[in-house]
Amino acid sequence: MVFDLTEELGVHQYGRPLVLLRSGEKPRLRDFNNFLFQAVPLKGELYTLPELKEEMPNIFEDSSKPLVLEVGCYLGHIVTKLAAANPWLNVLGLDIKYKRVVKSCEKIKRANLTNAKIALCDIRDLLSILPPKSVYGMFVFFPDPWIKNKHEKFRFLVEEFFSGAFSKLSDNGFIWLKTDHKDYHEAVSSFAGKYGYQKADSLPAEISGKEYTSIFETIFLEQGLPIYQQVLMKKEG
Ligand SMILES: C[S@@+](CC[C@H](N)C(=O)[O-])C[C@H]1O[C@@H](n2cnc3c(N)ncnc32)[C@H](O)[C@@H]1O
Repeated sequence: MVFDLTEELGVHQYGRPLVLLRSGEKPRLRDFNNFLFQAVPLKGELYTLPELKEEMPNIFEDSSKPLVLEVGCYLGHIVTKLAAANPWLNVLGLDIKYKRVVKSCEKIKRANLTNAKIALCDIRDLLSILPPKSVYGMFVFFPDPWIKNKHEKFRFLVEEFFSGAFSKLSDNGFIWLKTDHKDYHEAVSSFAGKYGYQKADSLPAEISGKEYTSIFETIFLEQGLPIYQQVLMKKEG
């Protein structure tokens, strides 16, 4: 059977080989890698976009908890820390690389967390399938800055992202951004207000464990580089 997953996988089409293997189909030879095979049995812990479409928010033991996304979760450090320190939250970490999502799942499993899951997909495709006001918060730490002019089109923290994300955030929802790129930080600061976000000095007080230092942040701090961060709150009206 030939599977047409184009619509199922959203605009950015991440996770095709995993969807195929989980359906008993064969991906293209060039898509094979060890972490893809390790990803297959992680069903129920590692989600593809079509699975999230079907199952959100019931992927979590208690789907009534507020949902926080970690965009670009890398090896799962922040997802694990956030979910462990805040059992009243559900935390979904996402990344677009197989090795990273597999490692993140292993970390969550070792920590025995039932309020943390991982997804292999692009944040823009995930947001497009989530209902309005279903996201309490987003951690976006050190998104790839794409500094060359010809690569700028790959940045996802652009006006369209913030305008679309606003309706997906719950009232008083937030986006916490960190970057080592001053111009990226300033670009976001310059237009966020236009889409209804207000800058806050810190995370909402109910979130515990404020020291969320990511792996990239540690590397940059060790190099003595400055870190730019902002918390953007959704304020209606
Ligand atoms: C520079 S790394 C930062 C990793 C981690 N957040 C940290 O601060 O240590 C950026 C991460 O975002 C992931 N990523 C890039 N574009 C993405 C997208 N559109 N949606 C989700 N993850 C993405 C990359 O694969 C990578 O793991």
